[in-house]
Amino acid sequence: MPDPLAAPVPISPEDEEITVSGAALRAMRDEFQRFLMEYRFGLAEVETKISILREEFQEMHAYNPIEHVSSRVKSPDSLVEKVRRKGIDADFASVRDGITDIAGIRITCSFVADAYRLFDLLTQQDDITVREVKDYIAHPKPNGYKSLHAIVEVPVFLSTGRVAVPVEVQFRTIAMDFWASLEHKIYYKYDRQVPDELLADLKSAADTAAELDARMERLHREIRGVGVLPL
Ligand code: GTP
Ligand code: MG
Repeated sequence: MPDPLAAPVPISPEDEEITVSGAALRAMRDEFQRFLMEYRFGLAEVETKISILREEFQEMHAYNPIEHVSSRVKSPDSLVEKVRRKGIDADFASVRDGITDIAGIRITCSFVADAYRLFDLLTQQDDITVREVKDYIAHPKPNGYKSLHAIVEVPVFLSTGRVAVPVEVQFRTIAMDFWASLEHKIYYKYDRQVPDELLADLKSAADTAAELDARMERLHREIRGVGVLPL
């Protein structure tokens, strides 16, 4: 028999039970799907821009500066987790303003010069607005992470008119990508508490990856002539 004078068990907001009608629940689901749809379209616009650049390079210069492109719209679970973690209000306008990586695309290039060149070619397009740039290639994170990040806004034309959709674009080399995917696995395996020894090993592996990038680019320049990319 529970003690009636005991303090009530606190209910955290995320555990609180609410009663919603089936119709209200369906309306919420539809609104959420519409919200995510805009990001899918934004992603498709950027993907098209990147594949046009890739094909044009191949046609005009017999050179492909892109090794691999991957993209994703954040899953509802990971979006909800990030909204909570960042303490953002759970309404669509606040999420739209506060979370800029709902649509994300990663462009893995052969060489560092290709990453910068593609960044320039994308961000200089006159329908693209650059909201933020983080150059972790010039300024790597203390753990060794390298990549060039941009949050760009791309226009999407819906039946209701034009919307500007933010897309996070990451440019990196194969070596940077190899390092980042291993670091990501280790980070989660150790539940974000990676032992110091392993952290030092990872940092040293990042330096080795950067040396490999520099050597490969030098070799490539020797084969092709002065520039990595034909001008
Ligand atoms: P998030 O809250 O994670 O989005 O970080 P942020 O808003 O400060 O943005 P930042 O540009 O630092 O990182 C965005 C994305 O870059 C992450 O979601 C990862 O995909 C990638 N990233 C950033 N730092 C690291 C890192 O140390 N290791 C790995 N593996 N990936 C990273
Ligand atoms: Mg981010």
